[in-house]
Amino acid sequence: MIVNTELEQKGNLFPSKIIKFKKDVDTLFFYTDNNVILQLKVLRDSVLRFRYTTTGTFENDFSYAITKYASTGYNKLVIEDKETYFEVTTSKLICRISKENLSVSIYDAHDMTLINQDEIGFHWEESYEFGGNIVKMSKVVNERESYFGLGDKPEHLNLKGKRFQNWVTDSYAFGKHTDPIYKAIPFYTGLHHNKAYGIFFDNTFQSFFDFGQERRNVTSFWAQGGEMDYYFIYGPKVQSVVEKYTDLTGKPHQLPPLWALGFHQCKWSYYPEANVKAITNKFRELQIPCDAIYLDIDYMDGFRCFTWNKEYFPDPKRMVKELADDGFKTVAIIDPGIKIDNEYSVFKEALDKDYFCKRADGPYMKGKVWPGECYFPDFTKPEVRDWWSGLFQELIEDVGIQGVWNDMNEPAVMEVPNKTFPDDVRHDYDGNPCSHRKAHNIYGMQMARATYHGLKKFNYPKRPFVITRAAYSGTQRYTSTWTGDNVATWEHLWIANVQAQRMAMSGFSFAGSDIGGFAEQPQGELFTRWIQLGIFHPFCRVHSSGDHGDQEPWAFDEDVTDIVRKFIELRYQLLPYLYTCFWNLVEHGTPILQSLVMYDQEDSQTYYRTDEFIFGKQILVCPILEPNAKGRRMYIPRGTWYNLWTDEQVQGGKEKWVDAEIDSMPIFIKAGAIIPKYPVQQYTDEKNIEEITLDIYYKEGKEVSQVFEDAHDGYDYTKGRYSFRIIKLTGKPNELILQQHKEGTYEAAFKWFKLKIHGLPFQIKEIEIDNVIIPLDKLIENGTSSMIIDKKFSEIHIKGNLL
Ligand code: GLC
Repeated sequence: MIVNTELEQKGNLFPSKIIKFKKDVDTLFFYTDNNVILQLKVLRDSVLRFRYTTTGTFENDFSYAITKYASTGYNKLVIEDKETYFEVTTSKLICRISKENLSVSIYDAHDMTLINQDEIGFHWEESYEFGGNIVKMSKVVNERESYFGLGDKPEHLNLKGKRFQNWVTDSYAFGKHTDPIYKAIPFYTGLHHNKAYGIFFDNTFQSFFDFGQERRNVTSFWAQGGEMDYYFIYGPKVQSVVEKYTDLTGKPHQLPPLWALGFHQCKWSYYPEANVKAITNKFRELQIPCDAIYLDIDYMDGFRCFTWNKEYFPDPKRMVKELADDGFKTVAIIDPGIKIDNEYSVFKEALDKDYFCKRADGPYMKGKVWPGECYFPDFTKPEVRDWWSGLFQELIEDVGIQGVWNDMNEPAVMEVPNKTFPDDVRHDYDGNPCSHRKAHNIYGMQMARATYHGLKKFNYPKRPFVITRAAYSGTQRYTSTWTGDNVATWEHLWIANVQAQRMAMSGFSFAGSDIGGFAEQPQGELFTRWIQLGIFHPFCRVHSSGDHGDQEPWAFDEDVTDIVRKFIELRYQLLPYLYTCFWNLVEHGTPILQSLVMYDQEDSQTYYRTDEFIFGKQILVCPILEPNAKGRRMYIPRGTWYNLWTDEQVQGGKEKWVDAEIDSMPIFIKAGAIIPKYPVQQYTDEKNIEEITLDIYYKEGKEVSQVFEDAHDGYDYTKGRYSFRIIKLTGKPNELILQQHKEGTYEAAFKWFKLKIHGLPFQIKEIEIDNVIIPLDKLIENGTSSMIIDKKFSEIHIKGNLL
């Protein structure tokens, strides 16, 4: 494997002078006198695509990452031929292309800040071994520039000064700094002068990113083949960069079912049936909310996908139904390796239909995984994906499995040095035949995609839930993900926190870690702290290898069980808040977790923070990452925040010690926020919820909050049958005003809101709801600031005397 470095300049070739220019509507072509062509396409005023060829022609324009639903269109496009450069102007950007050497500089169109500038720019090295080029790009590092993104790297959030590679890899017990691991997301956000931009290098070959490590002033990226093909995305807000990247590579195709946002319990493996039941019963007995139970590989017959071990699970359909009756959805694992066994119908069929991957010279790609020697479907072939989707009929439609877990899809191969297929394996790549060098990074994504389509079809009209381990950019359209085989250590708790934030910043919000650690066993304290963090991750599942003991909430001591219960209950209370975040994700690509730098990029104090993050838009969370802690120092972002536990108000913009004994963790609510809460349930939709609590955090000034509701499953919401409430809070010294506006045609089942007001600086004297004054004693619960209000209110005025 070639790991070339940028400085290995010997073999590098460079573009020369521009000799010709052509324009075709939104696409510009710049030709140099050594056969290089730059194709610059204006997708939006703030999104430009750069493609380079060194042969005079471009490859077939095909990408697994870019969605057909990506937004296009611009308000302005002016191209000028200046003396030394061409200038392309949109309403947001000015891009200059040097006539001398094709190098690119991009400016903010409003204030001419230089946002991004080529150093050498595009250059390449010919690859004698494989043909084609190693394609390279180098950019100037701007003054005090920071870098974020790149998927699941277990590294400090700010990537400056570091180098990475993208090559999805089964990384059992990876550690801090291990690179690469399971995901390949060649997208980063750069931030300097309070302006953020993104670069998405859409190249599926092994790729590298160097953020000023090799040369302090140069950021470069390169790949072992394919084209230099990248998208430049201008924010200038970090969040807007991520939203535009997500628009390009796809938002989740639909909301997850609400249950998927509940708590999930998993282990390798729960079997036989009696064991599964013992676990689920214990959850109910101990009143610890839980929505999903997982079946790992031992449910299968000899690890053959789509089969059952009838000794362990004599009647899966009955079991799954009984679990469902008790509020549990069953999720089953499916791996890509298909056991070589002529008696096994899935194997036979794939063989007959020629669906397995082959080596360059013709033999099948044979590799060892859990079932022993296997062949592997070529998920890059549409026909194979259709077949694979069809295989789920029995599991989903008949047995009633509700979710599918795709694992080992890097693809992982055991007992071989490179842990995966050899480079020469052939793939269809949707009609663009290629070797594994090009298909490796998208193999798992295409498996998850085929799985998703199977679930979607056979689970209809319910919504699909898929989880995958391997991913490339765009995988977020189909599935959720977890961070792979971590370890039960404090360091891994830190890693999990950073990874979930980084994934959100890489357009893949629906992510979580194996809570408690997959390998080895946590102490009760670590498990507790991990649960406290995990309930704030979009995907919330305990999983462990099981080799080292049990990892259920009751596997430690009673105190642990009680604290774990309390936090899982908090997650269930926050479900309407989290569901609203998911709505913003599927509608606008808005990340569910915001690292502090995304939350407040104007505050440079946030650029190197890793621990604190914002859950949704209004809840600040900071996990405890050390043993024996009674609290910790943390940075509170600017503004006023309420301590969730004490209602104490703190002013941000500084570090602060926050108490957090083992039964607590630092959680703050943004002043002005209105947080919707459900009552505690043992599983989603256990109860007919009649009342949603609105925790209202008084602020002098304005703040907007939202509550999304729909049927919690199904596709009606796509036809407008949802309710999206926007509640505006206006706080004055002696008045609090709430104005509600509702969109959508859905009539949510709940009837009223219970308002709980925090931090009110006056004594309530009068309450007016939709122009009618309501007697106080009718509304206010004794001695509290709680009141029950019809959900349909438009405007509430709470007036009072200053305290
Ligand atoms: C892999 C997965 C892990 C799973 C195990 C057995 O190690 O990452 O989650 O439990 O395989 O299927």
